[in-house]
Amino acid sequence: MSCLHYRETELYIENSRLKQVAEKFGTPCYVYSSSALASNWQAFDEALKSIPHRICYAVKANSNLAILHQLAKLNSGFDIVSLGELERVIAAGGDPKKVIFSGIGKSEIEIEQAIKKKIHCFNVESEAELEKLHQIASRLNTTVNVALRVNPNIDPHTHNYISTGLKENKFGIEINKIIPLGRQLASASHLRLIGIASHIGSQIVKLNPFLSAANRLLDIYLELRKSGINVQHINVGGGLGITYHDEHPPAIAEYVKALQQKFLKHPVEIIIEPGRSIVGNAGALLTRIEYLKHTSQKNFVIVDTGMNDLLRPALYNAWQAILPVELRNSEKRTYDIAGPVCESADFLGKNRTLAVQPGDYLAIDSAGAYGFSMSSNYNSRCRPAEVLIENDKMRLIRRRETIEDLFALEKI
Ligand code: LLP
Repeated sequence: MSCLHYRETELYIENSRLKQVAEKFGTPCYVYSSSALASNWQAFDEALKSIPHRICYAVKANSNLAILHQLAKLNSGFDIVSLGELERVIAAGGDPKKVIFSGIGKSEIEIEQAIKKKIHCFNVESEAELEKLHQIASRLNTTVNVALRVNPNIDPHTHNYISTGLKENKFGIEINKIIPLGRQLASASHLRLIGIASHIGSQIVKLNPFLSAANRLLDIYLELRKSGINVQHINVGGGLGITYHDEHPPAIAEYVKALQQKFLKHPVEIIIEPGRSIVGNAGALLTRIEYLKHTSQKNFVIVDTGMNDLLRPALYNAWQAILPVELRNSEKRTYDIAGPVCESADFLGKNRTLAVQPGDYLAIDSAGAYGFSMSSNYNSRCRPAEVLIENDKMRLIRRRETIEDLFALEKI
């Protein structure tokens, strides 16, 4: 559910007026609801409370230190995909012992550093990675926890670019290799097999693909047990979708309960790696209208936010609601909402009916996940500010970049 709501004609997050946020911190500006973030995380924790579990928030969805700090205070674990994400978790007060390292291309330095920081587990995605991990662990004279990420060959029915569990995808280990690898690992001197994992994609709005993946994991778990290999955990990945438009994803509790049914009878810990379902609906992106432009073909609202600030519409043709921060009574027209970047892919929404004027603010809804974290400096644009709302308090959690920041690392 969106964290935005109108009171009379004004848009709010919690008890804070978004117009005031925009005036105080400028635009573009990401703004997050602290209570929405916490209640989404708690919904997972509550629904899983009857079985051993770990919620490892997927840092890539939103890696701002204040967001990570808030989740760390709730006792969250973290799913990371780079050394940068690990260092962010630690800087935010997260516990490396609750960190899981996913990703198909972990470098030697990343593996070594993660071992030294004593993370909980590596989700391994290939035989070659397993070998590298073994070499590094033996060089460091230590034993490392691993989980094997299975590619279960399941269609998650989501956008192609964010589908990860089909056999043609680069992710995970082919299912028929898992049992032999598991047996091999039993005799590895510096690796300890503690889990199996899968992650079939993102923005998944139906239960079935999740349940099929869980069935495959359960089959593997039972087969490993038959071979005398008892893994401690089953990691079901992330991927639960949210409502951007007219999608009806299962509620967090419904999704978790359905999964839980499968594993209840087995002495195993469930790990889950949600990103979008924790932070997606907990944030919005504020923008200001620079110009209205009318052509013989179309009406355009030109805003101060571009594809460098929010890439999802350009990259995935993603639909996100665009709402006036202050409602007007004037006539509505249908517009494409476009940014200042020099590409026709630079749009935030198409065919939206709005009553607006230059100088008005708009809020792009459900921008908490894969918004700021995918932003860039394309067109030498400064990345947005980020603000965290707690009731009627607004706190700057990342200052807007400055022109000096843009080339601070460069030399002539
Ligand atoms: N675990 C692994 C191994 C992942 O690769 C991901 C996301 C997650 C967990 C978290 O998935 P979530 O619960 O957030 O769906 N940029 C795209 C989404 C890419 C997702 C990448 N992996 C977007 O804006 O839609």
